[in-house]
Amino acid sequence: MPARIHAPTPSNLRRLAAVLRHGGLVAMPTETVYGLAAHALDARACRAIFKAKGRPANDPLIVHVLNLAHAEQLAEFNPAARRLARRFWPGPLTLVLPKKNCVPDIVTSGGPTVALRAPAHPLARRLLRLAKIPLAAPSANLFGYISPTEAGHVADGLGRRIQHVLDGGACPVGVESTILDLTDPAQPRILRPGAVTAATLAKFLGRPVGAAPRQAAAGRQRAPGMLARHYSPRTPLVVRSPRGRRPDGVAGIFLRKPAGRAGRDIYWLSERGSLAEVARNLYRVLRAADRGGHRRIWIEALPVAAGGLAAALHDRVKRAAAKA
Ligand code: TXA
Ligand code: MG
Repeated sequence: MPARIHAPTPSNLRRLAAVLRHGGLVAMPTETVYGLAAHALDARACRAIFKAKGRPANDPLIVHVLNLAHAEQLAEFNPAARRLARRFWPGPLTLVLPKKNCVPDIVTSGGPTVALRAPAHPLARRLLRLAKIPLAAPSANLFGYISPTEAGHVADGLGRRIQHVLDGGACPVGVESTILDLTDPAQPRILRPGAVTAATLAKFLGRPVGAAPRQAAAGRQRAPGMLARHYSPRTPLVVRSPRGRRPDGVAGIFLRKPAGRAGRDIYWLSERGSLAEVARNLYRVLRAADRGGHRRIWIEALPVAAGGLAAALHDRVKRAAAKA
């Protein structure tokens, strides 16, 4: 049976919360991307996430909670982590901290730390409140493919592998959360850039915040951002200006709607050029271009120096374009 896409009615939310409490899987909207959620303290339920996504067991899951008090039941917080949670939760910031015993090994890939965040999306929060359990949830896509920002994207990839998708429309942020490793509060490190920027975090903490190392250490990886190739369409993607003449069969993705041009091989990431708009549209447009039957896709380079969301967007586009 293909997955059902549920409208967010009160009775559907109650039903889906019960599915989660009983160890089932539910794809849910968050403010960043859709997540494939399961009871985080139920190892069997979490194992089903890996199976549905085709995700390797050495890639740990993010656990979603309602608030700091719930998070403190799962991890050892330090004062810096507490301050960050109070300031940036609910929101797109994931904190990596030493885990407590109750968190099953499958969630952390056997490691001593757990990644936690309180999502801001009202439907994710309603599910958390109704289910009364922490929810492990990676992005709700097949492993390595583009993250989903609409319920239909989830069904496209996982429609024959899961039963339930909660429809919350398009995700308002559009790229995954910032992951900050705070296991050593003296040396905070960004493992994956996101909407909460390194500069914002450094300013708030009053200390430098390290960037992700380029290569994953052998064995368990620190973050998916560590995989050179991730978030990738099946059609070869090249970061290259689509403005000039493109060979036949090569589609162009522009940062901004190009004036006076149209055609089924032309796509754009924003109407006006704002980075927030680019972030909201990036995965939807990559998916559309991937389905367009093109031989190759050229995507316009993002302004790296622009600050704010630019670092996260640049990171995702670079990885989407990396060769296997
Ligand atoms: O915005 C988001 O973070 C979305 C929504 C659904 O919350 N989730 C998401 O999950 O992007 P996922 O699994 O696609 O990426 C999370 C990554 C994992 O691949 C993993 O490498 C990293 O977070 N991670 C999880 N636990 C970790 C840990 N204990 N230490 C280091 N990295 C960890
Ligand atoms: Mg993912």
